[in-house]
Amino acid sequence: MTQTPSPPPSKSHGRKSISASATPRSLTEDTRLARAWTAQIITLLPQAFPGVLAESLTGKALRDGLWQLDTVDLRQFGEGRHRNVDDTPAGGGAGMVLRADVMGRAIDHALGRSPGPLVYLSPRGRRFDQQMARDWASLPGIKMICGRFEGLDQRVLDHYRIAEVSLGDFVMTGGEIAAQAMLDATVRLLPGVLGNADSTTDESHSDGLLEHPQYTRPAEWQGLTIPEVLMSGHHGEIAKWRQAQAQELTRTRRPDLWTARRTKD
Ligand SMILES: C[S@@+](CC[C@H](N)C(=O)[O-])C[C@H]1O[C@@H](n2cnc3c(N)ncnc32)[C@H](O)[C@@H]1O
Repeated sequence: MTQTPSPPPSKSHGRKSISASATPRSLTEDTRLARAWTAQIITLLPQAFPGVLAESLTGKALRDGLWQLDTVDLRQFGEGRHRNVDDTPAGGGAGMVLRADVMGRAIDHALGRSPGPLVYLSPRGRRFDQQMARDWASLPGIKMICGRFEGLDQRVLDHYRIAEVSLGDFVMTGGEIAAQAMLDATVRLLPGVLGNADSTTDESHSDGLLEHPQYTRPAEWQGLTIPEVLMSGHHGEIAKWRQAQAQELTRTRRPDLWTARRTKD
């Protein structure tokens, strides 16, 4: 009987996966890729990656080798012929829990393959925010565990001292969407990913404020016009107007951010 060979447990997406020959040029590129910011994702759904990250600016940056993405297929580390990855919760209750031994093998495979801390995506974790995206972008990369079912055996988190990070105060069926959201926010901060570096310094959450309202052509739409100051060409006045709008929006919509900013000043 012939056995179907197992797919490799890890898969690289982006530039690294399409480099073919060892000509001097590709060797240069390989060196650059060896240093590229790297995301490594342990997941039961490797086919969900790169997903939306393959589009637009993050996708172009991935193809250009400004960052790289490796998925580790948790199923490949499963138990037995059916490669089981989960079991019933100790103490009873609904659902299934990802097994410690299976996840441990996947983590041991992932550790050492790329740099950066390991985090577990979890609604119990510290809430992801712009500062965390900035911190991650300044590291050589990040490794993420996407949970499924009722989550992961606690012993894995304790043993490897893994920090938990949440996308927000809601529960999703798995960590994959959270991973892509956090990677999008982080990758766009990497040097060279956005054409205009100013766009990351003058946007919501860059200095504790929400962004001012934006307008573009046509000058009149449905009887509504663009605020006159924006059409004045007077850069000083425009900057003052935008700052005042940003402050007012933050004060009324996000008193938590407003208070935090004022306490810092
Ligand atoms: C159904 S959830 C498990 C929820 C868990 N039983 C609880 O109550 O905390 C399955 C997986 O989805 C991911 N997930 C769900 N909501 C998330 C969030 N807000 N942020 C990050 N990951 C999340 C986690 O990886 C989690 O292990």
